[in-house]
Amino acid sequence: MDRIIIQGGSTLNGTLHISGAKNAALPLLTAALLTEEPFHLSNVPELADIRLMIELLSQHGCVITSQNNEVTIDASAVENTTAPYDIVRKMRASILVLGPLVARFGKARVSLPGGCAIGTRPVDIHVNGLQKLGAQIELSEGYINASAPDGLVGATISMPMISVTATENLMMAATLAKGETVLINAAREPEIIDLANCLKSMGAIIEGAGTDRITIQGVDRLKGTSYSVIPDRIETATYAIAAIITQGELTLCDTDLALIPTVSEALTRTGAIITPTANGFTIKAGSGPIQGVDVMTEPYPGFATDIQAQMMALMTLSNGASMITETIFENRFMHVPELCRMGANITVHGSSALVRGVPYLSAAEVMATDLRASVSLVLAGLAAKGDTILNRIYHLDRGYEKLEQKLTDVGAKIERSKAPAEA
Ligand code: EPZ
Repeated sequence: MDRIIIQGGSTLNGTLHISGAKNAALPLLTAALLTEEPFHLSNVPELADIRLMIELLSQHGCVITSQNNEVTIDASAVENTTAPYDIVRKMRASILVLGPLVARFGKARVSLPGGCAIGTRPVDIHVNGLQKLGAQIELSEGYINASAPDGLVGATISMPMISVTATENLMMAATLAKGETVLINAAREPEIIDLANCLKSMGAIIEGAGTDRITIQGVDRLKGTSYSVIPDRIETATYAIAAIITQGELTLCDTDLALIPTVSEALTRTGAIITPTANGFTIKAGSGPIQGVDVMTEPYPGFATDIQAQMMALMTLSNGASMITETIFENRFMHVPELCRMGANITVHGSSALVRGVPYLSAAEVMATDLRASVSLVLAGLAAKGDTILNRIYHLDRGYEKLEQKLTDVGAKIERSKAPAEA
């Protein structure tokens, strides 16, 4: 397995390009299933998860070409409406084919994704919402078997929890349902707005995306489109923290500060100086020590759970303390023991972690456990004294396009190598 070796201590300076958002591109790719016309996406990040979604859509019968961050999909000849376990188990976002398949083809057989490292992550909101839209659903042999031979019918769906992909799945399904659908307690993430804008460019009638109440008027069919993916707000925040933790200054381009309202406010409270630019922003570490900041993860526009691990890495070096509370997932502190092995002082009490700042971190051989935990260890390694070795970096490849290249271009000493077999 590959591993990354980071020689800590470099100050990052320069300009860094932000890629298209993984969590926008994934639902956008499944939207291609809703039309038989050519569907084109640009600014698609080249990531393992994107390649897996392309593999999943191809086995459904989509004809796909992808190169240089551009993907073209022809779903006119889709026949297979089964999403198999061996793909779905690798990427939970595979569940996003369920809504489009039932909406356009009247049936789908999608493997239950199963849990993952950060939690059990059920899909009951997806399933119950589709039932509300008139789909017959049977769970058997680890699969969701859904059918709507006469098509879906619009309904008012009040979701018990705010769920990003459930909102996306049901919004896509509703675009081809008969009549009006109202999603209550909908997720408000920018990726929802991006998907709604793409669907509207295909002829869908959607109001309220970005609010907790989304109204969709079903139409008979959707056209093809050509659409560009929004910037990745999680990648943006990750590299903003890299600037602070290395006491450097980075200009992040092809992104938008407005995508991270709560996170940028928290980073400012640590003492960092943020200056908006025409197509992003410059972030500079403050002249004084890093200030401890309390953080609680919440659905957008609150502090994103996908940035919790990265913020914790920064807080390990504050001149005070920080209480970090994770409210979205039940097991998203797996980076804590690895950070502690690098000298961090963190104690976990239930869903909260108390981070007491230490004067420095020390390099160690550490292991990535999930996508965002792995990048928090990269951030810690950039600041630590010595050479940090990060194993199991396939997690990183799922969500960070050209990570070593981007960091090297702004002064990091980071390289990928083959790990010994046992790592
Ligand atoms: C999306 O996952 C993101 N993934 C996650 O990013 C992100 O962490 C998460 O939203 C929260 O912001 C994509 O967009 C592809 P949820 P999703 O449904 O939609 C519970 C990353 O690192 N829930 O909003 O799966 C669930 O268990 C990934 O890029 C149910 O109970 O998350 C969780 O506690 C990790 N039943 C809460 O809701 C359901 O049917 C929020 O989960 C669905 C969700």
